[in-house]
Amino acid sequence: MSGLQVAQGLLACPHCGGPLAAHGRAWHCPVGHSFDVAKQGYLNLAGGPEPANADTAAMLDARARVQDSGLFGFVEQALDDAAGPAEGGTVLEVGAGTGHYLAGLVERRPTARGLALDVSRAAARRAARAHPRIASVVADVWRGLPVLDAAVEVLLCVFAPRNADEFARVLAPTGRVLVVTPSARHLAELRRDYGLLGIELDKHDRLLDTLGARLRHRASTTHDTVATLQPAMIDDLIGMGPNAFHAPPPARAAERVTLSIRLDVFVKA
Ligand SMILES: C[S@@+](CC[C@H](N)C(=O)[O-])C[C@H]1O[C@@H](n2cnc3c(N)ncnc32)[C@H](O)[C@@H]1O
Ligand SMILES: [Zn+2]
Repeated sequence: MSGLQVAQGLLACPHCGGPLAAHGRAWHCPVGHSFDVAKQGYLNLAGGPEPANADTAAMLDARARVQDSGLFGFVEQALDDAAGPAEGGTVLEVGAGTGHYLAGLVERRPTARGLALDVSRAAARRAARAHPRIASVVADVWRGLPVLDAAVEVLLCVFAPRNADEFARVLAPTGRVLVVTPSARHLAELRRDYGLLGIELDKHDRLLDTLGARLRHRASTTHDTVATLQPAMIDDLIGMGPNAFHAPPPARAAERVTLSIRLDVFVKA
């Protein structure tokens, strides 16, 4: 099995919640709602226009260059440690972007399958190619996850929106949710020098309040690295995030940059 086929028995119809099954180039629920597989190999279950904050192809290219450079290897390591020892199971990444973190986790778990979910079609195209054991769908996390109840052992949410009710619904009884958010020090030098949008300082409290209302908070750790980055990499770091929408000036000099994230683990309440 590869690509979308790995999602057999996992997807739910966005209209009625019934189980979706593949029949040729389309997926159907028992009531007859039907969704065609895009020629790039993903399934569009969103059924509406992309919101303004969906990642663009240019943002995804920049993100892929940064991730391929290994700069965020410390995040991959932290996720791997927090995901636990399970060999297999279903791993869902919400707001998956390129599918980089999901692909890494699935690769290191030989019988695992992955589901990449993103509201951006450009992201879904990329994630569909990220790993043979990853299925890729377009969906809006705020309109409900097109996933059956209690079907997910590990749910990743890395710099992406969080829907507490839906995370709790799709999580298996022994599953865990891993949430990565930027700490206040993340990219502090770039924010200072390039006037980037600030990182909201109350974000961690808000995370604990919103997800903590539906899930049990188990652990919180911070992970940092400092790297000297060339101008092209600085441009990519800026261009892969929300600041891409505000076009700051191109970087001219190499700079020491701090990357700092918080990883929170939640389990079933
Ligand atoms: C900052 S990027 C992070 C991508 C990836 N997790 C990573 O760290 O490389 C946020 C992602 O969330 C997606 N996103 C934004 N709003 C969303 C929504 N309502 N539903 C699903 N995905 C969404 C964006 O398209 C983008 O790919
Ligand atoms: Zn249906």
